[in-house]
Amino acid sequence: MKRRDLIKLSAMGLLAVPGISLAARVPAVPRLQLELRPEQRHWFVSGGAPSDGAPVALWGSNLDLLRLRQHQPVEIEVINNLPDETTLHWHGIRVDNAMDGVSGLTQAPIPPRGRFVYRLTPPDAGTFWAHAHHRTYEQLARGLYLPLIVDEAEPYTADRDQLLVLDDWRLGKDGQLDTDSLGDMHEWAHGGRMGNILTVNRQHRPQLKARAGERVRLRVLNAANARIMVLQLPDWPIWILAKDGQPLSAPREHAGPLVLSPAERYDLLLDIPPNGEGSHSIYHLANESQIEIARLLVDAQAAPLVRSAPVPLAANPLPALPARAPDHRLQLDMTGGAMGSLRQAVYRGQMLNIDELVQQRQIWAFNGSAGLAEQPLLRARPGELVEIELHNNTRWPHGMHLHGHHFQAESARYPSDLWHDTLLMARGDRVPIRFVAGTQGRWLLHCHMIEHQAAGMVSWIDIVV
Ligand code: C2O
Ligand code: CU
Repeated sequence: MKRRDLIKLSAMGLLAVPGISLAARVPAVPRLQLELRPEQRHWFVSGGAPSDGAPVALWGSNLDLLRLRQHQPVEIEVINNLPDETTLHWHGIRVDNAMDGVSGLTQAPIPPRGRFVYRLTPPDAGTFWAHAHHRTYEQLARGLYLPLIVDEAEPYTADRDQLLVLDDWRLGKDGQLDTDSLGDMHEWAHGGRMGNILTVNRQHRPQLKARAGERVRLRVLNAANARIMVLQLPDWPIWILAKDGQPLSAPREHAGPLVLSPAERYDLLLDIPPNGEGSHSIYHLANESQIEIARLLVDAQAAPLVRSAPVPLAANPLPALPARAPDHRLQLDMTGGAMGSLRQAVYRGQMLNIDELVQQRQIWAFNGSAGLAEQPLLRARPGELVEIELHNNTRWPHGMHLHGHHFQAESARYPSDLWHDTLLMARGDRVPIRFVAGTQGRWLLHCHMIEHQAAGMVSWIDIVV
């Protein structure tokens, strides 16, 4: 019987069962429409950069933010009104593999004018994002992403919930996105494509509002292609509540700048002091200079208050790491790039020397293999414990991202109890990561300095039952 018919019958009273509502038996999955489309942004940039006031043409969507409920199934109908094919990836959200949105691995790209329905039930509450995963180095640079918040089943108490989505864009002399530089191999071999204007929430130096005495939940996301963001907030009490969407068991006090690789997120708690009225700059710290990226305008205090110690976010249902020897232990040797020692690598099943690799736009490799190989890095079964020692054998930092999983890392850079889906590695770093193999499917492992991914730093693990 179709749902429509059930509703008709129920309307006629024929299905009336005391105490049981029809809705409880035929739950409707809410459907959101997400239209991907070109958009225009007004950025008035002073100081040498374009300032003629013409809007900048980007790629975006009909929504500024996706807000979902934990454990609640949802259908997201993506309507592609862009001039290029695309996919959307739900970064950090544990989804069925067929919904992971990796063009060429988990789905075919959605053609222009096409539609695709993503079905997900977010198991974890937290701060995530959705972004294009097709020609990502170009589509991300054009702005094809949006922040995604999964709300806790029980709301967490803070006076304000403020997003800080950091991004880095490159504008040309005409004030428009510089698209000629997309695909520049020199940049791909170095730190990736850097921009010349920083934005917060897709605005240039926005003014954010708050009130003195407030306790603010700040959700910070680095949505840049390649730039590592070094966020300097006003010097007030700050705690880290969650990293990459996974809560810490206890809020951790934080002082000094917060460093975020592309794709990393932090949920912070910021206590604005009762005498904090005024205008406060938020900076990105770049080699010795500080760039104001936003301003926090703090209003006079509404009422005096007494603060208690911050409480942790409710834990997500992420399986704990079992205390036993890993079922799989392997190394991932990251090589290549400028000033690196890569001489040859396997690309599409063939051993190529460095000149041939560059002709194929490849300049980085994982375990001697560039680009997405036919064979996975690893085959594992759901529930198995995996340890991969990542070795950054290059002269560049990298932000390593594993799809569909969170992992723990033994890194001097982070406290050991954090969960990550993306991990910043400095050159020379050797970092063992550990995770429990999740659900069946093909899960990507790549550098989120997206030009590095495009130029070879990508592999995948196969979870089989
Ligand atoms: Cu955020 Cu494979 O990506
Ligand atoms: Cu990289």
